[in-house]
Amino acid sequence: MHRENEVVHVHTLELDEVSKFYRTSAEVVCALRDVSLVVDGGEMVAVMGPSGSGKSTLLLLIAALLYPDSGSIRFEGRELGRMSERESADHRRSNIGFIYQDFNLLPGATALENVAFPLWMNRVPWRKSKEQAATLLERLDLAHRAGFPPSKLSGGEQQRVAVASALSITPSVVLADEPTGNLDTARGDQVLAALRELSQERGSAVILVTHDAHAARYADRICDLKDGELHERSGDELLVGE
Ligand SMILES: Nc1ncnc2c1ncn2[C@@H]1O[C@H](COP(=O)(O)OP(=O)(O)OP(=O)(O)O)[C@@H](O)[C@H]1O
Ligand SMILES: [Mg+2]
Repeated sequence: MHRENEVVHVHTLELDEVSKFYRTSAEVVCALRDVSLVVDGGEMVAVMGPSGSGKSTLLLLIAALLYPDSGSIRFEGRELGRMSERESADHRRSNIGFIYQDFNLLPGATALENVAFPLWMNRVPWRKSKEQAATLLERLDLAHRAGFPPSKLSGGEQQRVAVASALSITPSVVLADEPTGNLDTARGDQVLAALRELSQERGSAVILVTHDAHAARYADRICDLKDGELHERSGDELLVGE
C-alpha cells in the first residue's frame, strides 16, 4: 500500500547471507556461514562466541579489509564489495571507529594527541582537533591525563582514551574486538559505560565482540556466533549463559 511521505529507511549496516572461507594449502575453513544482521545508528549489538567462531572475521568484513565469498554487506545503503580500494580506505578512515583488546594507542603521542589524530586524518585542523579531543577527555574524566603518553596511563585509562579516539570522528559504526579483555570487571565497566554513552549520544552503531556475558549486558541486542553461524537471542534468551 502506498503511503504519503513514506521514507525508505536505509540501515547503517546490513549483512545479507554473508559467507567467508579461508583457503590454505591444506584445507578450506568456513569462518562465516550465511550471516545476516541489520544494525542501526545508536544501537549496540554484542557478538559472543568461542575462539575461532568467526568474530574477528566479521569485523574485518565490515571494515572492508576482507570481502565475502558470497552475500552482501551494505553500509548506509552502499555495497562494500562495489567500492574501489580508495573508497574502502576512505570508508575505514571516516566511517569506522576501531577499539581492540590491546589498546592500540600511538605510543609516542599523548592521550590528547591520540584522540585528536583521527579527526586530523579527516581534515579537521589540528588546533580544532585538539580542542574537540580535550572536550572528549574531560567527558571521560581524563582531563588530568591528557598530556601523558599511553605508557604512563593505566590499562583502563588507555582503553578509555581508545574509546574517545574511536568516537572522536562520530563514526557510523564502532567495531570493538574484546575491548575489555585485558581489564578487570570494574575497569571494564567504566570502558563499556563510556562506549555506551558516547555512541548513543553520537548516534554511532556499535558491534561489541566479547567472550564475556557481563560485558554483553551493555548491549541492546546479543548475537551468538558458533562455527560461523550467527543467531540473535530473543527476549527470554537474553540472560542465558550468564
Ligand atoms: N588468515 C586465515 N587463514 C586461514 N584461516 C583463518 C585465517 N583467519 C582466521 N582463520 C580461521 O577462521 C576461523 C575464524 O577465525 P576468527 O579469527 O574470525 O575467530 P574469532 O572468533 O575472532 O577467534 P578469537 O576469539 O580467538 O579471536 C578460525 O577457524 C580460524 O582458525
Ligand atoms: Mg578474534
